[in-house]
Amino acid sequence: MTKTILRALQGEVLPTPPIWMMRQAGRYLPEYRATRAQAGDFLKLCYNSELAAEVTLQPIRRYGFDAAILFADILLLPQALGADLWFTTGEGPRLSTITDMAGVTALKPVDDIHDTLNPIYETLRILKRELPSETTLIGFAGAPWTVATYMIAGKGSPDQAAAHALKNTDRAAFQALIDRITEGTIEYLSAQVDAGAEVIKLFDSWAGSLKGQDFTDFATKPAAQIIAALKSRHPGLPIIAFPREAGDNYIGFAAATGADCVAIDNSVTPEWAAEHVQSTGCVQGNMAPTHMVTGGADLDAATRRVVQAFKHGPHIFNLGHGITPDANPDNVQRMIDVVRAG
Ligand code: CP3
Repeated sequence: MTKTILRALQGEVLPTPPIWMMRQAGRYLPEYRATRAQAGDFLKLCYNSELAAEVTLQPIRRYGFDAAILFADILLLPQALGADLWFTTGEGPRLSTITDMAGVTALKPVDDIHDTLNPIYETLRILKRELPSETTLIGFAGAPWTVATYMIAGKGSPDQAAAHALKNTDRAAFQALIDRITEGTIEYLSAQVDAGAEVIKLFDSWAGSLKGQDFTDFATKPAAQIIAALKSRHPGLPIIAFPREAGDNYIGFAAATGADCVAIDNSVTPEWAAEHVQSTGCVQGNMAPTHMVTGGADLDAATRRVVQAFKHGPHIFNLGHGITPDANPDNVQRMIDVVRAG
């Protein structure tokens, strides 16, 4: 029996959509906080294969989600390419910055990334053994533009100003960085598939700040390159692309990149996404994560609305972005119950 997530990714319309949740392993769960404390800190948790597998499994045990997503971070690839990376509690990630071609040239060769990333592949091998047979194992990476925004600014920023500035003032250095991340991402994701990932998701969290030709050049094109390379090495591999807050650029994104499914954020309505995006293939999303904090009848209504809007096409139920640390775990169960009640 093919797993439900894989069936949806093949275009099948299921009676109830399969479910998983972005950041399903995270600080809103007491068992996650306990394991993270045991590991020491977030990065130690990512590189401790046994404990990373444990936190990946926690939301599967608690909720029976249809997919498990590898526990890791999109910023491990820059670290493997030679960037310094650290997390300051309450402030998010910090990295050394890349400001010119010399910075790009100083990065490690792509072939060296596995020296750092081997524990991540080991996490996948453990998960492949330990996951229930009906649960799909998802591997992931950041898309080149989103990863570049962190490598250039050295941190997250609301407008990605530093990355836009490098793109507009030193196009050669910027393009070289995008190309290096693209090559590294192909090797990283290919190794994840070899280690047991059944589906790959590409997170372009900051795609929304790319407009016009920039969106084509730096969101669509690198995604298309990565997807083509992965599919030629791993025929039939399903891939989910998430160009977050792409708006009208969601339309045609699957066809332009070769993705099997487009993940939709909650800045667009599910009715709009059903009409304009799901009409050409599988979609994932797009419940607002705030309902996991507020709960109640609004949560029930919003869940039903997403299920209804997408019920005539292939759909994987998910949030529009990651669940937040202040979410109530009971609200997640309530959402799942509403989805599965049909
Ligand atoms: O979804 C999952 O459960 C799998 C694990 C996962 C994490 N990060 C764990 C994490 C995944 C898929 C990511 C992706 C990621 N990481 C993205 C793309 C998706 C998105 O959210 O837009 C981005 C932009 C990052 C970079 C990153 N990592 C930031 C900006 C932060 C700080 C913000 C925060 O929530 O604290 C992180 C840290 C991080 N990554 C945490 C987790 C569980 C929290 C760290 C902790 O436990 O203290």
